[in-house]
Amino acid sequence: MLASLAVALSGCLPTPSLRDLANRKGLAFGTAVRESALSTDSPYSSTVASQFNLVVPENELKWDALEPQQGTFDFSQGDAIVNFAAANGIAVKGTPLVWDSQNPAWLTNGTFTRDQLIAILQTYITTVVGHYKGKVAQWDVVNEAVADDGTLRNDVWLQAIGPDYIDMAFEFAHEADPNAKLFYNDYGGEGLGTKSDAIYNLVAGLKQRGVPIDGVGLQMHIDASGSPSPADVASNMSRLNALGLQTAITEMDVRLPLPATNSELASQASVYQSMLRDCLTAANCGTFVMWGFTDKYSWIPGFLPGYGAATMLDDSFNAKPAYYAIRQDLGG
Ligand code: XIL
Repeated sequence: MLASLAVALSGCLPTPSLRDLANRKGLAFGTAVRESALSTDSPYSSTVASQFNLVVPENELKWDALEPQQGTFDFSQGDAIVNFAAANGIAVKGTPLVWDSQNPAWLTNGTFTRDQLIAILQTYITTVVGHYKGKVAQWDVVNEAVADDGTLRNDVWLQAIGPDYIDMAFEFAHEADPNAKLFYNDYGGEGLGTKSDAIYNLVAGLKQRGVPIDGVGLQMHIDASGSPSPADVASNMSRLNALGLQTAITEMDVRLPLPATNSELASQASVYQSMLRDCLTAANCGTFVMWGFTDKYSWIPGFLPGYGAATMLDDSFNAKPAYYAIRQDLGG
């Protein structure tokens, strides 16, 4: 009897939900989601539907998933998420259109001339953004184009096309869906410093040339050490606002060394809270997305062995201190 009560209560989150609280603040409050979990794990899908007004497919809208063979598009996984979102009145953000990672083998291993690669880029963006026109409200058009030293990442796009691949990608996306909000997205440039300055200069150049960019995504894959400081993130948001750009926190997680202690979980909670507060306070931040909401499916333990516990709910969908901290800042 007690055991069944415990099962029934596990994963039960208080009302009003985070989604309702975010709606009252006009905040797009989102999480990365996996189709494989949405379709098989009902506590997972019901938590997405009750707690979020925005979802971001974690891998399903990446190039290797969408165009595994050149010219053959597979929208099945992406469509499943978009349909789930529509059925639950949830908005969708897409990521990324152009990146140096998770590209199909035909693209990575192929040899193309500049003109051929521009045509490949245009076909891909036109097809994908066109397919989701009116259904995906925001796109990360270019992801992680700046290296840690502030130079443009020396990837296939830069090598074969040159720096103007970035301008082109935004133009192609805007042409395919003029109503979608278009973002540049990166990690390690959330606060102030060399990389953040380089991103600032890049997007300032785009604005100056009239390239259709709406904002900058700050990924926010961080630990609980206190870096970047909330003050630096606020300054960065503010200087981007002065350029006429939106900002968004796009992939927040706060990794901890495993096993996490209570004091680390408390520090994690305050890191989540301070970044959410930065977004709510900034004049130009309307979107706050976490890179997963349950430790059950977080990418961190697989990517950084020894680290994890990075999200606001544990493996059984129970609230951690981070959940209560977020809830409090949303006004709950
Ligand atoms: C990650 C996914 O979470 C993993 O499942 C996948 O194996 C690798 O990519 N920056 C990004 C995201 O822009 O797309 C990445 O997502 C995490 C880092």
